[in-house]
Amino acid sequence: MIDPRSQATRASYDTVAESYDRLVRSSLPEMPFDRALLAVFAELVDGPVLEVGCGTGRITAHLGGLGVEISGVDLSPGMVEVARREHPGHRFEVGAMQDLAVPDGALGGVVAWYSTVHTPTADLLATFTELARVLAPGGHLLTAFKAGDRVTPLRHAYGHDVDLEVHWHPVDAVADAITGAGLTEVARLVRAPHGPEKGPQGGLIARKA
Ligand SMILES: C[S@@+](CC[C@H](N)C(=O)[O-])C[C@H]1O[C@@H](n2cnc3c(N)ncnc32)[C@H](O)[C@@H]1O
Repeated sequence: MIDPRSQATRASYDTVAESYDRLVRSSLPEMPFDRALLAVFAELVDGPVLEVGCGTGRITAHLGGLGVEISGVDLSPGMVEVARREHPGHRFEVGAMQDLAVPDGALGGVVAWYSTVHTPTADLLATFTELARVLAPGGHLLTAFKAGDRVTPLRHAYGHDVDLEVHWHPVDAVADAITGAGLTEVARLVRAPHGPEKGPQGGLIARKA
């Protein structure tokens, strides 16, 4: 059973899945700081990696291209369907990042790349606690998010009507939630907005002792 807000998020991404993939899949070449974070993570990580909130799989595929053994999970069956079709070399499943079907300590890394943008700041601790649970000792977490302190309703996106809430998280609140989940911050990056982005963007890498 998922809550009504998550149901609305899932239905919205089901609706936009095809156009999301068309509009977003080729944006990484224009994002040197994002590529740098992903490259550092690829270098640090050892063992299987799961991208939670993988969407249509562009980040999963990018990390796979850097030699990372990676699969994806997403709340939206529509996004997963597109990911499976577009990136058949990777495994994608439907699921919620707050309740992963993964044993404790099974993974070398977890990526949450803009997948907490619909998670209230107050719920970050529970979310990162679940991500920390599935990491093996020495495993790494990489997350990217919108850096700020506001919640904005989104009613139209990627050419469709949607029902989304976009949560901008203070960088220190993300770091505190990650630390509270038992991980140690390794690095953080805050960059200026690029193109249509409406504010600064944050990235953080953490490690399980
Ligand atoms: C902005 S998209 C990012 C997708 C992908 N990481 C990328 O960068 O292209 C956010 C994704 O997170 C997923 N998502 C939101 N809440 C989730 C949750 N609780 N569990 C798993 N996925 C979730 C959405 O379905 C959507 O595909």
